[in-house]
Amino acid sequence: MKRDNIKTFSKKLSGKASEWDSAFSVEKADEVLAFHKSIPGYEETPLVRLDALSKELGVSSIAVKDESPRFGLNAFKGLGGSYCIAKYIAGELGADMKDVDYDLLTSPETNEKIKDLTFVTTTDGNHGRGIAWTAKMLGVRAKVFMPKVSTRERLESIRALGADAEITEYNYDDAVRYAKDYAEKNGWPLVQDTAWEGYEDIPLSIMQGYMTMIREAVSQLDAPPTHVFLQAGVGAMSGAITGFLANYYGNEKPVITIVEPDKADCIYQTALADDGKLHFVTGDMDTIMAGLSCGEPCTIGWSLLDAHAEHFVSMPDNIAAKGMRVLASPLPGDTKIVSGESGAAPFGFVCEILENPDMKDIKETIGLGPDSRILCISTEGDTDKASYRRIVWDGEYPSV
Ligand SMILES: Cc1ncc(COP(=O)(O)O)c(C=O)c1O
Repeated sequence: MKRDNIKTFSKKLSGKASEWDSAFSVEKADEVLAFHKSIPGYEETPLVRLDALSKELGVSSIAVKDESPRFGLNAFKGLGGSYCIAKYIAGELGADMKDVDYDLLTSPETNEKIKDLTFVTTTDGNHGRGIAWTAKMLGVRAKVFMPKVSTRERLESIRALGADAEITEYNYDDAVRYAKDYAEKNGWPLVQDTAWEGYEDIPLSIMQGYMTMIREAVSQLDAPPTHVFLQAGVGAMSGAITGFLANYYGNEKPVITIVEPDKADCIYQTALADDGKLHFVTGDMDTIMAGLSCGEPCTIGWSLLDAHAEHFVSMPDNIAAKGMRVLASPLPGDTKIVSGESGAAPFGFVCEILENPDMKDIKETIGLGPDSRILCISTEGDTDKASYRRIVWDGEYPSV
């Protein structure tokens, strides 16, 4: 990979908190985890230590949290969908989230009150599956819209969970606006995994739901990470993880790096402009990292990233493809991870900057060296199996 193909922006943290910090406290994460644990089939996802690779690449450790087994959905997104729908229903029942669990949500009395609900959303695939799965579990309906670049495989995987799903002619952000209008016209709740001014309650609970993966990870790690690498679409997931890490580790917070596809780098553009405004990317945003193909940052996510993330990266698809291949063919002694395009993006970036001498300046700026303990989250498995094979088996998207 040529150095020019990767753009980075780094900043010194101002030390100013985010107004959303308190919503991502350790106490809140424990409450969210307790809710998820009440769902049948809940299991902690594995934290995989790649010891041979960390030795090879000259760092102390590399750990990858593998979210592919999460609730049988092949991605982390069910965490947010289930928590936000539970919280919405808690509101309908007048119950406190601390008292809400799977048994309450699926009781005949609750079902009688909620059975006519339809939850509306837009998705590139993973969030929609999380919503469809939760709706099915609770005996309510889901209406799911998808951007025009969505694959048939992703559409069918949502329909298989019983949702009414369709591919629209819009890009992701326009499809969100379409879903919003549709929900309003029908008087149904919009459960969108991104926030904008005036629409923050539901995305906030989705983001809080994501904390379960990092709450588990910090307990699974042998030692606190020095560097965490996260992928961003709208920045809700990375914002939630970052907010939690800032609360959990305080002054010892790891250095946080956010990676995005160069065709949909709205978080990078917003960081770079540094003018207090959100910066959008428009057009088809045609990237293999389908989950990250979003052009409009989430307000809550950006606020947390602005306060606590140091480095921002805009990079080509080939880096994610490399991450998928390295995870699929580990060094002897290391465990294989099946990771999809969006899942492997930060890990691919880590491999590239540690391995490629042309990237030395990035490695130095981020401060990686023999004492570094790296954490990445593989947020999805092979959610597009045909694409996974083309990349991992046939070498599609080679290094350029
Ligand atoms: C697999 C995967 N990883 C990461 C993300 C990024 O999440 P966010 O859009 O909150 O930045 C998504 C979003 O859909 C995703 O599907």
